[in-house]
Amino acid sequence: MGAFLLLPKAFMGAFLLSFISICSLLPQSAVGITRHYKFDIKLQNVTRLCHTKNLVSVNGKFPGPRIVAREGDRLLIKVVNHVPNNISIHWHGIRQLRSGWADGPAYVTQCPIQTGQSYVYNYTIVGQRGTLFWHAHISWLRSTVYGPLIILPKRGVPYPFPKPHKEVPMIFGEWFNQDTEAIINQALQTGGGPNVSDAYTINGLPGPLYNCSAKDTFKLKVNPGKTYLLRLINAALNDELFFSIANHTLKVVEVDAVYVKPFETETILISPGQTTNVLLNTKPHFPNATFLMTARPYVTGQGTFDNSTVAGILEYGFPLNGIHSKDLTLFKPILPPLNDTSFATNFTKKLRSLANKEFPANVPQKIDRRFFFTVGLGTNPCKKNNTCQGPNGTMFAASVNNVSFAMPTTALLQAHFFGQSKGVYTPNFPISPIIPFNYTGTPPNNTMVSNGTKLVVLDFNTSVELVMQDTSILGAESHPLHLHGFNFFVVGQGFGNFDPNKDPAKFNLVDPVERNTVAVSPGGWVAIRFLADNPGAWFMHCHLEVHTSWGLKMAWVVLDGKEPSQKLLPPPHDLPKC
Ligand code: C2O
Ligand code: CU
Repeated sequence: MGAFLLLPKAFMGAFLLSFISICSLLPQSAVGITRHYKFDIKLQNVTRLCHTKNLVSVNGKFPGPRIVAREGDRLLIKVVNHVPNNISIHWHGIRQLRSGWADGPAYVTQCPIQTGQSYVYNYTIVGQRGTLFWHAHISWLRSTVYGPLIILPKRGVPYPFPKPHKEVPMIFGEWFNQDTEAIINQALQTGGGPNVSDAYTINGLPGPLYNCSAKDTFKLKVNPGKTYLLRLINAALNDELFFSIANHTLKVVEVDAVYVKPFETETILISPGQTTNVLLNTKPHFPNATFLMTARPYVTGQGTFDNSTVAGILEYGFPLNGIHSKDLTLFKPILPPLNDTSFATNFTKKLRSLANKEFPANVPQKIDRRFFFTVGLGTNPCKKNNTCQGPNGTMFAASVNNVSFAMPTTALLQAHFFGQSKGVYTPNFPISPIIPFNYTGTPPNNTMVSNGTKLVVLDFNTSVELVMQDTSILGAESHPLHLHGFNFFVVGQGFGNFDPNKDPAKFNLVDPVERNTVAVSPGGWVAIRFLADNPGAWFMHCHLEVHTSWGLKMAWVVLDGKEPSQKLLPPPHDLPKC
């Protein structure tokens, strides 16, 4: 828009008029501007908890820079790799309609960007507004390479809730004193569980409840009697989090960049890969107190975990009579117990789509293809002459329908687009478990997974119902599953084994929540529906990075439709090579 300023006024007026008349002919989604960003992937010294790390960063920032755009805008983000590691960046939750080449998961939609190379991610934000985030999508580099991606509504379009006084992104992360690449490489060698994090962070800051950390505290400065929109993002590697602010109520208004029916809660639960917008009404008058906001994990697995608590401070500005904030009473929120699955269930049940005229819930009512996937942990045999640290001397693995996904060495999307899938992947991913068993009962004796690069191939516009069933093979555990390229509707959820005869009758096909990441309850199941209206190769995986590393991932190929507007665009010229 800045270029307009250089034009003579009369000319600009005429230009604007013709611009407006052109725009009225175009579909709404075509109206928007192009925004340019540059991401220099660099090493950067960062100190937390008195440990200094030379970590991989974007533009020397930790967490990385904020991207702010509007619905309908086009983003051109040039990523230049100056570090020894391969890199790729994923725009988590962006639909990427026909622009799958810009999605970012390494070896799925692109080969990684090698040292000294660059790639321009080019995509348009269509029909989405809200909070998302971006993160590295290779190995465990997303532990330090992440940042908010904020999509404002189109200019002049209001939120379906009162306009907040201020908007504040708050991104949760995990800090490891050690190098995370070393941690996961070692774990994959030994077959054991990887070391856990040393702290959780809010906007990169662990806060006062850790040693040597008080100065690294996120402070939210507020005025009395105002409404704040907190854009909460869970970018932690391996932990679902409870979050609460002492003596304040939160009103949930959006998840995963889709508005929901507002509801109030003291505490929210947010899984890695999920975002939650909440409204915070501050107290009408200056309180003689400050308030901690804390987050700590919701844990359902058997393994070790980081059970520490990150805290930030909610501080009311400009106290009267020159009172210092350190002299004020400090209130602390009470979070649910670590394994509070009933809180988790009640919380997720409250999430409903707006499902009104302006924001309809287009839930597929007629289903073309049904899938039943088990998700959970398992084992691989220890390699010859090795000693392994997984269960009973094996190696930890994880799988979907007992297939532990083997990453190819070239990108799936290229293989698909150029008709060269042979030797890269096979299209025979099982639509249900090959050997059914009591998924949530006593674990079977044989915990071994199979390994392969198997995909599901879908025709364009197939309506899909997918039930994901947790297994108790190595202990029932919550798995936040993330699907690339689509939003889906969460139509049902339950505990125990899914019953195809009884459970579908209870599905919510009216106002189910629409999102891109959903937790499969520990020892339970979740049913989702989506329309496969986006041609490409789309990754689906647990957003607990350790489970992804162990193979809890698979991919869908959606074929082109007949119309030109239903086809994947050709790859950009600078698409990285493997
Ligand atoms: Cu947020 Cu496949 O990732
Ligand atoms: Cu998982």
